[in-house]
Amino acid sequence: MIPPKPAARPEKTSLINYLRLFRKDILSAQPAKLYRAWMAEFKTPFFRSFLVNQPDLVKRVLNERPMDFPKSNRIAEGLRPLLGNSVFLTNGDTWRRQRRIIDPAFEGGRLKDTFPAMLAAGQDVVARLGAIEGAFDVEPHTSHVAADVIFRTLFSIPITDETATAVFSEFQAHQRAQPILNFAAFVPLPKWVPRFHSRETKRTARVIRGLITQLTTARMAQIAAGTAPDDLATKIMTTADPQTGQRFDTGEMVDQVAIFFLAGHETSASALAWALWLLAANPDVADRVAGEGAALGDAPAFSDLSKLRYTKDVFRETLRLYPPVPMMVREAACPEQFRDREVPKGSQIVLSPWHLQRHERFWDDPDVFDPDRFKTDNGKQCLRDAFIPFSGGPRVCTGAGFAMVEGPLILALIARAFHIRTVAGATPVPVAHLTVRAQNGIWIRLDKRDAMAGAEA
Ligand code: HEM
Repeated sequence: MIPPKPAARPEKTSLINYLRLFRKDILSAQPAKLYRAWMAEFKTPFFRSFLVNQPDLVKRVLNERPMDFPKSNRIAEGLRPLLGNSVFLTNGDTWRRQRRIIDPAFEGGRLKDTFPAMLAAGQDVVARLGAIEGAFDVEPHTSHVAADVIFRTLFSIPITDETATAVFSEFQAHQRAQPILNFAAFVPLPKWVPRFHSRETKRTARVIRGLITQLTTARMAQIAAGTAPDDLATKIMTTADPQTGQRFDTGEMVDQVAIFFLAGHETSASALAWALWLLAANPDVADRVAGEGAALGDAPAFSDLSKLRYTKDVFRETLRLYPPVPMMVREAACPEQFRDREVPKGSQIVLSPWHLQRHERFWDDPDVFDPDRFKTDNGKQCLRDAFIPFSGGPRVCTGAGFAMVEGPLILALIARAFHIRTVAGATPVPVAHLTVRAQNGIWIRLDKRDAMAGAEA
């Protein structure tokens, strides 16, 4: 089955038209040839941009020499009011030090500790969905459960907590004012053009940071008193950098919490919403996922996740077709040679999970939804060469392992509880704003499954 894919723009277009299309949606602004090209160059009077699909070039940028391809300040500018000096924006020694403190909290072994919180959030969303009648847009619900997971795992509080609810709603307002994947990041203006943050961006950033400061300050006090719960916040705030012995102070921790929340909930929410629609459109696949979900039983343990093999492939296939972060931008810190092209210092390098993961030269039937593909030789090869939904190399998403537990678990819990149906006339059209979302939401309908039938499967 071929799920929705945005129409490509005509091969030839003027710069003005390109910028206009780009501002509307970065996916449909691109020509179809990017699904076949090894690399593409985009030249304007202000900047040069290179989109790379060739696996060895992608690996050079992400894995082999990431320090020569830092994140550009332009991306940071838009996000600075909210994220300050967070690990998502920093480069060089500051970034290295931050990852040394953060990474241990997300190590494989620690994931087990976050499982009960994820399960509780998953059970709550199943209950909320059970109360809905008729067709509805599932995106707000996946945002809600993903935010719930972050609050429960980070601060041991559910989304119903007053501060958590306030942070969540202010974040939604902030994202409307200042998307993470913003236009300015991709279309760098000359340095002399002044940049402004809207009053709304500054206001929401101030409110969110104020609320997060309350949470982190209270946690610092609990740590000092020896009464802190054993969650991600405590782990990160008590981890000393092995090289300097220093820990995050409250200010630096606020920056990190802001990015965990932003990077961790919008992305998972987008993937879950698309996965649910794909299940709705593929009832056979949904039944297999429901069967694995039923096998989890009433009180699953972390070790039961090994029963979700197929569900994991469904989630992976969703991340391939609808990567929540569709494109990433870097800057060439020194002159480079890519294929037969000179890449001048300062050029913008675009890595596109969206194009790479639907690339016609790599994937068999690239636009087809087929979770079984990862068992084939082609699928296995492509996982190594053409699959980067979490980026790659040292700057890989810190939450990748976390997301690969959270996503399949919640998907299985929902699929075992409901038959998921598409809604006639409401096929979602992917567009990229903050993450890959649908133009008018992702509409589905749910009918409760017969509990016994689920258990038998
Ligand atoms: C399906 C879910 C997710 C997807 C697809 C995803 C994707 C990504 C991608 C592509 C990047 C690299 C961006 C770039 O380099 O420009 C990234 C970075 C990051 N992600 Fe995720 N992410 C997900 C979930 C999470 C979660 C759950 C967390 C935390 C709880 C998280 C925390 C981060 C952080 C802190 C970074 C910055 C890493 C650095 O720059 O060193 N992400 N993510």
